[in-house]
Amino acid sequence: MIWSKLMTETWAKLEGLDLHLDLSGTRVRARLETAMREAIRSGRLKPGTRLPSSRSLAADLGVARNTVAEVFTQLVAEGWLNARAGSGTTVADRAPAAARPAAARRTRPASPGPAGAAAPRYDLRPGEPDCGAFPRNAWLAAARKALAQAPDRDLAYGDPRGLLGLRTALAGYLARARGVTASPEHIVICSGYAHGLSAIARTAGGMFGVEEYGHQFHRALLTAEGAAIRPLRLDDDGAVLDRADGCTALVLTPAHQFPLGMTLHPRRRHEVTGWARDTGGFIVEDDYDGEFRYDRQPVGALQPLAPDHVIYAGTASKSLAPGLRLAWMAVPPRLLGAVTPRLTGGPSVIDQLTLAELIESGGYDRQIRRARLAYRRRRDRLAATIAGLGYAPAGIAAGMHAVIETSREQDCLARCAAHGVALDGLASYRVRGATGRSGLVVGYGRPPEHAFTGALARLAAVLTAAS
Ligand SMILES: Cc1ncc(COP(=O)(O)O)c(C=O)c1O
Repeated sequence: MIWSKLMTETWAKLEGLDLHLDLSGTRVRARLETAMREAIRSGRLKPGTRLPSSRSLAADLGVARNTVAEVFTQLVAEGWLNARAGSGTTVADRAPAAARPAAARRTRPASPGPAGAAAPRYDLRPGEPDCGAFPRNAWLAAARKALAQAPDRDLAYGDPRGLLGLRTALAGYLARARGVTASPEHIVICSGYAHGLSAIARTAGGMFGVEEYGHQFHRALLTAEGAAIRPLRLDDDGAVLDRADGCTALVLTPAHQFPLGMTLHPRRRHEVTGWARDTGGFIVEDDYDGEFRYDRQPVGALQPLAPDHVIYAGTASKSLAPGLRLAWMAVPPRLLGAVTPRLTGGPSVIDQLTLAELIESGGYDRQIRRARLAYRRRRDRLAATIAGLGYAPAGIAAGMHAVIETSREQDCLARCAAHGVALDGLASYRVRGATGRSGLVVGYGRPPEHAFTGALARLAAVLTAAS
């Protein structure tokens, strides 16, 4: 492996590949960062490629070792590189989503995916877990075992609802962990919640009542499938039904409203299931982070209150990784026949077999317990930091994000952006015409563990300056 410098241009020879890095001019660090991102993005530096140590690279490039070390740290934080004690720095298997070459991107957008050209330096956007905590070894072991044991017929086209083995494992897990009442025959596997939601909208059509704050991406999916949307007001007890008349379906996040964070009050839970029984409508229960509750017993699913009217939807996007595109729904029998044929293009059977094995072996529970502990610690640190600055964090009993209410949303966002801190404002989740709440949505799941302290410190500095 030879790195050589020629005039103002630099070539690197990595595993027989000539790599051209243009480091001419000033701001060497920024140029090296850009050049390495570009080399990874274009595929010239392949996933898994091991990089030289910062010391030898610095020597070859004729730059300070600190410069190279800082570049490595930054690119690790952005997800371009992996750093593991004892095994050096390697090119990550999956480049940051927004920067992957077009050919490698999924044809259907991963919901609610990151956007923008370059990953931000301090990434506190909500919506993604720490993908560095994905249980790679447990997943590989489960995949090996599951594939070795799977009958050949599991690899055929199979049941459009997904593999029976996974549906059976999920029926048991969901009953135990979330109180969901469904037999394997009423569970369907989909490529993420977004896939399931599209299929439901295509099946039901009509008017969908949606919480007045939520993912714009999910609302766009509904309208793209021909459904109309009506915003439902939110108060401290969750969704209010005063505008539900005429709706075919209500899409709710009962355990942890996204993004405001309140729990649907027990009285409201009875109101919404009563609404469904009285009108024949149904409820889509988006239980996106139901496993991650910290301060009291998990709030059980709404589905067992009205299994004939509630479509329960869960996902591996928070518990494992969104790139898996693995999710599931428990569908009331009366809707199953109509929804199932609209679920074409589900996840790979290899991933389904693997998840089934992971659940059956207890590995999935272990991963949830580990992740819950790690996120709870982050949540506590974030809450203490924010409270210390005189802000009151909201919605922090569960999940991986908190809301900081402030009337100066735009000002704070601009300051955050200027300091490399990426997070969202509540306005970006609001349905037009909704009650005007104002604040910041801070995702604490996404940064890799080693980057969280820095991100938190930078957020605190920005909030201090803003207040
Ligand atoms: C509110 C909400 N619902 C559902 C999901 C999961 O979506 P998917 O399974 O399509 O990744 C997310 C993920 O961020 C979410 O924030």
